[in-house]
Amino acid sequence: MAATWLKDTVFYEIYPQSFYDTNGDGIGDFNGIIEKLDYIKSLGCNALWINPCFDSPFADAGYDVRDYKKVAPRYGCNNDLYRLFGEAHKRGIKVLLDLVPGHTSEEHEWFRQSQKAEKNEYSNRYIWSDFCFQRTADLNYIGGESERSGTYALNFFKCQPALNYGFLNPEEPWQLPIDHPDCIATREAIKDVMRFWLDHGCDGFRVDMAGSLVKHDDEKQTGTSAVWLDIRKMLDEEYPEAAMVAEWSRPSIALRAGYDMDFYLNHPGNGYSTLMRDYFVNDKEKEDNSFFKKDSDGDINRFLDEYVKWYEDTKDIGYISMLTCNHDTNRPRYTLEPDELKIAYAFIFTMPGVPFLYYGDEIGMRYLELPTKEGGYYRTGSRTPMQWNKGKNLGFSEGCKDSLYLPVDEAEDAPTVEEQEKDKDSLLNVVKELLNLRHREEDLQADADFKVLCAEKNAPFVYKRGSLTIAVNPSDKEKTAALTVKGEKIYSLGNAEIGEDKLTLSSQSFVVIR
Ligand code: NOJ
Repeated sequence: MAATWLKDTVFYEIYPQSFYDTNGDGIGDFNGIIEKLDYIKSLGCNALWINPCFDSPFADAGYDVRDYKKVAPRYGCNNDLYRLFGEAHKRGIKVLLDLVPGHTSEEHEWFRQSQKAEKNEYSNRYIWSDFCFQRTADLNYIGGESERSGTYALNFFKCQPALNYGFLNPEEPWQLPIDHPDCIATREAIKDVMRFWLDHGCDGFRVDMAGSLVKHDDEKQTGTSAVWLDIRKMLDEEYPEAAMVAEWSRPSIALRAGYDMDFYLNHPGNGYSTLMRDYFVNDKEKEDNSFFKKDSDGDINRFLDEYVKWYEDTKDIGYISMLTCNHDTNRPRYTLEPDELKIAYAFIFTMPGVPFLYYGDEIGMRYLELPTKEGGYYRTGSRTPMQWNKGKNLGFSEGCKDSLYLPVDEAEDAPTVEEQEKDKDSLLNVVKELLNLRHREEDLQADADFKVLCAEKNAPFVYKRGSLTIAVNPSDKEKTAALTVKGEKIYSLGNAEIGEDKLTLSSQSFVVIR
């Protein structure tokens, strides 16, 4: 079962490069996160996920780890991160670090050792074929770069050799089974990294590419699941309140493999993508059929058809995490206006499970068209500096403009925290209200039941959370559901009229009824 503190938790994802720079070098740092903890708390977020902040050549924004136990000097030193854990805990905020177990940087010492011709402790830490021209079609292999005769498998970009957790169905002599001592050694090495950070005060991990550790796995990913169940056993015995959220997006598998939470990620055509990103990526001239686009006349069933099956199958074992966005996805503001975002977030923050808010989405930061940075490619546009106020570099950094990690949004009307704090109708204040409401009402938190009451195309979408009834109408037309709902409104955006046997919602509105 999931860590108990997740019952009433809302996460805030921080891309540390771009959050707050306190030493004027143009890049965010741990001290910056510490200075903004009160802001994060004021939003109603009580947990953080910090993207990889470890020593790295940053060919993939830190997802290419060179030393798992040392933080990247550009963010501060290990002690600064330990202090961040302490300061967060003082405010009731938990902290998840980003664990990248599937690969390291090609500059990691383990990999350097494994490239050597002479056999050593690390020779099998990565997946190596046994001859310089040998490779198989199912994985990408690199040859010609090492003293050792063999090619090594990649897990993602060229800079990210795959760690060796073994093959469920080995087909070549050099493909090791998952219980081979060298594959177990890889697993133990990752446990050792986890213990290191948990002992220093972190509360768990967001786990990168959690579903692909074991190669030649079966459809049910039993090999990878076995590895995670073994890691979970260690957590249960030594750190029972440590939480893990998977980048897997197959909750029926991930939550049975020992995860507390699994992200419902944006994959083109899946249920989640139909909510806020139903357009051809990077071409917003194309038609946007997203449910939360006011003129799309969208259909919530495209989401529900997938979600409800997953929810029913997993509700007693763990949580599906809905998110506003993450560092890999176009910001929702790419096509949605702030009024549309208010309704979308109202929905996301009243769903079961544990929601995640991506930094800057609370003010509707834009997706910027930018050249690639640190292997970001199209993702770079969602990773720009946080917009705190109208001052220099929008309050992100005192450094000179040219030194900034990425440029800030230069639009006249670039949204900022300071301005939105003063405007009671701002997106920021709506986010605060929604998160407050979620913390006040147990029925809006992770565990209360979810049930669809009305998902008809021309009516508002109406659902139950525990004893509360919630209705959403993202469209620009008034909509009525033929339903008898008794009770009083406890929160609304726009107008909702509770009739005898009908519920009418004005255009772009949302209501919670008790
Ligand atoms: C998923 C991460 O979210 C992404 O940013 C990264 O590039 C890949 N995994 C590889 O680690």
